[in-house]
Amino acid sequence: MAFPSAWLDELFSKNEIVSVISSYVDLKPKGRKLWACCPLHGEKTPSFSVSPDKQLFYCFGCHAGGTVVQFIMDIERLTYPEAIRFLADRVGMQMPENVNDRELKLAQAHKKRLYEATRAAARYYFECFTDPELGKPGREYAQKRGLTPEIVKRFGLGYAPDRWDGLLNRLTREGFTKKELLDAGLLVHNEQKDSVYDAYRGRMIFPIIGVNGQVLGFGARVLGDEKPKYINTGDTPIYNKRNNLYGLYLHKNEKLSDLIMVEGYMDVIGLYKAGVLNAVASLGTALTQQQARLLKRYVETVYIAYDGDAAGQNATVRGLDILKGEGLEVRVITFPDDLDPDEYVQIYGKSGFDRLKENALSLNEFKVRSMANGLDLNAENDRERYAVRACAFVASLQPIEQERYYKVIASLTGYAVEALEAQGARSGGVVLKDSATGLRRGGVRRRNDSLENARTVLERTLLAACIADRDALETAKSTGAEALLKTEAFRNLFAALCSADSFSLAQYVAERPQEEAETVSALLREEGAVQNAVRTAKDCILRLRAEEGQAVLSDLQRRLAEPELSDAEREQILKKIQAQLKAKK
Ligand code: GTP
Ligand code: MN
Repeated sequence: MAFPSAWLDELFSKNEIVSVISSYVDLKPKGRKLWACCPLHGEKTPSFSVSPDKQLFYCFGCHAGGTVVQFIMDIERLTYPEAIRFLADRVGMQMPENVNDRELKLAQAHKKRLYEATRAAARYYFECFTDPELGKPGREYAQKRGLTPEIVKRFGLGYAPDRWDGLLNRLTREGFTKKELLDAGLLVHNEQKDSVYDAYRGRMIFPIIGVNGQVLGFGARVLGDEKPKYINTGDTPIYNKRNNLYGLYLHKNEKLSDLIMVEGYMDVIGLYKAGVLNAVASLGTALTQQQARLLKRYVETVYIAYDGDAAGQNATVRGLDILKGEGLEVRVITFPDDLDPDEYVQIYGKSGFDRLKENALSLNEFKVRSMANGLDLNAENDRERYAVRACAFVASLQPIEQERYYKVIASLTGYAVEALEAQGARSGGVVLKDSATGLRRGGVRRRNDSLENARTVLERTLLAACIADRDALETAKSTGAEALLKTEAFRNLFAALCSADSFSLAQYVAERPQEEAETVSALLREEGAVQNAVRTAKDCILRLRAEEGQAVLSDLQRRLAEPELSDAEREQILKKIQAQLKAKK
């Protein structure tokens, strides 16, 4: 977000973190930090800390943490620019006139028009739905699916009549330009004829509403079995599906104990109708980190309740780690017979759903169980393969958790718990990351992903240590850590840390491009958890070096396998491999 640097400077010096947080909780000094019971989650003993010298906060309980801006985003449930405005208001500062020039202002004005257009469109679709003639097919469909008038109203549902220019005519009459309607995703442009027409025709309309109540986009479902089943608004200046969760806006001002993540519009609505009010949907896409952070602002516990089919189960596995990574407590609800949540509550009602929820699996139990997916545990071969993999996974867990999960494996396979424990001990708890869940993800790319992830984690931890402790930074500097940082955001941050004696992290984050700011913010959340920073930094550097050595080695091995090598070349590569292997020892 582009705010002028000098303006931000003033903003942060006036919004010193201790004074800001003190207006929410009573901070007590102990050591170099100040402590309180965490205002972001309920607790009885203080695990919330504020570090005045670094201008950061961190909660050891819920793992929230970061700069003063992050604190305001978390506690007031605001977006980043809203939090900046909040802080400016707090100290009576004007928002900068020239928030990075004319262009930004124009963009803001344009966005405002798009919000107005989507709202007008939602109104139009609702009116069509209620129109005696036009709305008939929509109303029949709604009735068939049990969408009562109350539900239609609550979720702002509508119907797009089967016409090419219904919305086009109505909204241009209301003063919107074709460009505005195109930009909002409401019209489609036909290149050949150079004409525009309504994006949604003959479909049931599900408005996607942001947490601040604006209409961002739409989902549109066919009334029959044609494909595609749903058309969703693509990325527009006001909507990005990665940043939103369908149904979350209903809970803007509520205190919730948990949220239930489902896949689709109709799941949220079906559950709501059955009396399960707190479901939100990721809308058919893999859960993103941004969505996980959004959830984190509302709850500590998330139940994943994806469809019972294989696609849903695969999505569950991916979602789990993302939620966990944001410090959320995760539980998994599984549905029998390939049912989706909507279908399930229609048969078993809220009480059935509540029972499933009560029996939801912990993250690890879900993993242990889903490792059996695709295997036939009645066949000895598969049973053994499953047990070997599952035991390796269990052996990698906390000792006190292990007993419980060995029992799960025993119940699935019939092997004795003792044998399974011995098997687990033998594996040394080493599980290939991919097989930790047993679900096939296909392709070679995933493996690369997990390698990259290991690297990113190491880089992030190294940076967290450098921020936590000046000595760690000095160590990193003097051992050439800079060359090991492959992630641009971390490389930049490291350079900034090295070049200044003291600098404001909040300001640094505020001045980075959004993606980079997010990466760094994630890092700041971890900073508080670093123990023994110097040793951590040294460890990370060693392991990053090892990773790098491994990458060089793999590359050499790949080259050695090339068919058209001359003897001399082969000789040379072999020498290099030997040198690498030696260096590893
Ligand atoms: P119903 O059949 O109406 O009950 O829908 P559902 O919610 O059970 O849908 P499903 O589980 O098939 O899909 C879950 C979500 O994925 C939907 O809510 C949509 O957001 C998305 N989705 C489903 N089908 C399509 C499609 O054909 N195209 C696109 N782009 N998204 C889809
Ligand atoms: Mn469904």
